[in-house]
Amino acid sequence: MDVNEILSGLYSEQGRQNPYPWYAALHALGPVSAIPPRPEHRTVGAVAVGYDLVDAVLRDPEWRKGSPPGWQEQEILRTFMSSMMFTDPPEHTRMRAVFAKTFTPRRLGALEPVIARVVDTMLERMAESGAGGAEVDFVADFAYPVPALVMAEFIGLPEADLAWYRQRVDWIDEYMDVAGKTPERLALANRAAEELRVFYRDLIAHRRRRPGEDLISGLVEALDSGEVDLTEDELISNLIVLFNASFVTTVYMFSNGLPLLLAHPDTVAALPGDETLARGCVDEVLRMQSPVHFLARAAPRDTDLGDVPVRQGENVLLIIAGANRDPVRFPEPDRFDPRRDGPPSLAFGVGLHFCLGAAVSRLEGTVALPRLFARFPDLTVTRRPTYSGSLFLRGIDKLFVSTGG
Ligand code: HEM
Repeated sequence: MDVNEILSGLYSEQGRQNPYPWYAALHALGPVSAIPPRPEHRTVGAVAVGYDLVDAVLRDPEWRKGSPPGWQEQEILRTFMSSMMFTDPPEHTRMRAVFAKTFTPRRLGALEPVIARVVDTMLERMAESGAGGAEVDFVADFAYPVPALVMAEFIGLPEADLAWYRQRVDWIDEYMDVAGKTPERLALANRAAEELRVFYRDLIAHRRRRPGEDLISGLVEALDSGEVDLTEDELISNLIVLFNASFVTTVYMFSNGLPLLLAHPDTVAALPGDETLARGCVDEVLRMQSPVHFLARAAPRDTDLGDVPVRQGENVLLIIAGANRDPVRFPEPDRFDPRRDGPPSLAFGVGLHFCLGAAVSRLEGTVALPRLFARFPDLTVTRRPTYSGSLFLRGIDKLFVSTGG
């Protein structure tokens, strides 16, 4: 198979449901393959799946995020381009420093009891919905509300606004998918950005009058005292991007992870009370079923990537979910092994843009999984799970289970 056939297969409905055979086919071609020019990927010159190569590009600060053409005309792209996730140094460095300071070990420690409380509330709710053998949607009752409520408390979003907010997150994520750049999706993403900007402007004004313990209050205070080098517009863009980045990713960590874990009953039985195993399970779930599949970087100059020439400014598609199953780095890559040693997976990226919330998600997973299986030792999946259909953010949207009680 050549690279065009593989990419067509990957973008097909079948590929979206299960992209892993296509990633294996890319590995068979080598760590990186040139993409022959085609209208749909005009600016993408190559696709990389080799762990070492993807890792090296992400660690090299010269490889850039770049800026999409005409970004000034679209509210969503203006928001992205004034946030850390989509900018290069020096803007990235300045903005990330402001937020990195707020993700302190103290704040993370304070989050642990919040996570435990939210998890226990949701487990209680699952028990009620599942009483008498009724089917429960694990996504609706656990995988979605746990990260949403934890992040809402962490950032300082009113719980009552979460359903409204989620619709806007979906509009933005649909636009960000590899095949999402349609005029309709762009219009919805622009609308989401406009409405979220108004939402945050009001929330900031409110926190200014009545500060709390949350992240927004802390950031507003730092902004007003002139302590940090950030405008209010940039604060808003970063809050939008931060919440978006935190949200569906962590939902998918739970929903993608559950069937994988349940296929290993001995591990599940050993999870309650074994924190090291819980940490290993979280990392192995993220390696094997990464919520984020693709990243991209633009070449700083004409260069060779492996034996593939790439032109200055051309993008390289970095399939981190494929790199996480590189047989060179992860022997028997399709085997679940929570005690695997070897390099860290690239599920959270690496280098300058390494996920700012990695510790938060890992903590959510480590606290939640042992509690989940202690409460429901006989949890089973009752129907075949369905994936969202997005390749960029890949995950199970509906997952019916029986709680066994
Ligand atoms: C399992 C859950 C998560 C996964 C798989 C994930 C994945 C990622 C990845 C792959 C990147 C790198 C993007 C790039 O290099 O272009 C990233 C960046 C980022 N993530 Fe996460 N993330 C998760 C949870 C979170 C959470 C909970 C938060 C917030 C609390 C968060 C906030 C961010 C931010 C702000 C960035 C941008 C950092 C920068 O550009 O410097 N993420 N994430």
